[in-house]
Amino acid sequence: MKLNIAVLPGDGIGPEVTEQAIKVLKAIAMEFDHRFSFNYAPVGAIAIDKHGDPLPESTLDLCKTSDAILFGAIGDPKYDNNPSAKVRPEQGLLKLRKELGLFANIRPVKAYGTLLTKSPLKKSIIKDTDISIYRELTGGIYFGEKKISDDGNTASDLCEYSRFEIERITHLAFKAAQSRKNKVTLVDKANVLESSRLWRKVVTEIAAEYPEVTLDFLFVDNAAMQLILNPRQFDVILTENMFGDIISDEASVIGGSIGLLASASVGDKYAMFEPIHGSYPQATNKGIANPIASILSAAMLLDYFELFEEANLIRKAVEKSLKLDITTPDINPKFDNVTTSKAGDFIEDFINNPNDSNLNFKNIHLGQSTII
Ligand code: IPM
Ligand code: MN
Repeated sequence: MKLNIAVLPGDGIGPEVTEQAIKVLKAIAMEFDHRFSFNYAPVGAIAIDKHGDPLPESTLDLCKTSDAILFGAIGDPKYDNNPSAKVRPEQGLLKLRKELGLFANIRPVKAYGTLLTKSPLKKSIIKDTDISIYRELTGGIYFGEKKISDDGNTASDLCEYSRFEIERITHLAFKAAQSRKNKVTLVDKANVLESSRLWRKVVTEIAAEYPEVTLDFLFVDNAAMQLILNPRQFDVILTENMFGDIISDEASVIGGSIGLLASASVGDKYAMFEPIHGSYPQATNKGIANPIASILSAAMLLDYFELFEEANLIRKAVEKSLKLDITTPDINPKFDNVTTSKAGDFIEDFINNPNDSNLNFKNIHLGQSTII
């Protein structure tokens, strides 16, 4: 298969983790005889610095003419600490999602058998967790009207949803549940918010079209608690934009590190693949950032094009690296010689020679990797 992939590495650790995902995609292309081309474009703080715009027109054009987008991370402390900044890196990502119509953000959360003891949560609680979060991505409070009074002392953000916006992601979530455990949990705040009551109404109507799927409801505050009390109760979680943002970071604790969580952002026409973590500025260029979220996002990219064997090989390589402890210090503080790029090298190498990887494992821990 021939794929043109737009690469938007962005800020902080974005470039170094994305580089590992590309390495892995190149290994897949070589093994399976695909032709993947990679075209880079700036986004976020780096794009503001260079072009005065967090999403330059040329970046958007590249995304629109590519088959898929691989996104790194966005954000810079110089904006976080300056609430009056008019232009912000995050605007680039939000505009990208909106312009490309990426209305559904799919975030898988799994407790890897080999990492059960790495999570701060008890093994007995997280064991066998397998959740798919369907987060609405182009509506709600993120995109509603924002206002600040003339005196600067009153501000508001509008949370607005239309039936259409709810319907389209709800269908995706129910279809996903059909090939999983046939359960959808709608997370909302229908006891307080009118927009949540609309979600409940529309989702309940649509559920009737999927009789084999069970639908249940949780208020977001309770969901936040249930997620770490009994995560196995969940199969597909369907939720609006901001609740999805918050509970997916929380859910990442189940897996052991936010550095493991990948996501796919899809719409009718375009698809973008992005780790859920941020730009982690403190770690930039230190070689400590976990590349797995980015690598698993690349696997989701392959799934999107129905290259399932390829995607599964990446997952197998990731699992092997976790099993052998060839992971960055967020998961494996004992071995601080596994850098971002060494973790990527192992996964790349496993894809090219699945039977040879024990040898490289030894070399990596001796600090003398022979992998080029
Ligand atoms: C995410 C991020 C973004 C979001 C930020 C960077 C705008 O936290 O993808 O989860 O809030 O959606
Ligand atoms: Mn987030």
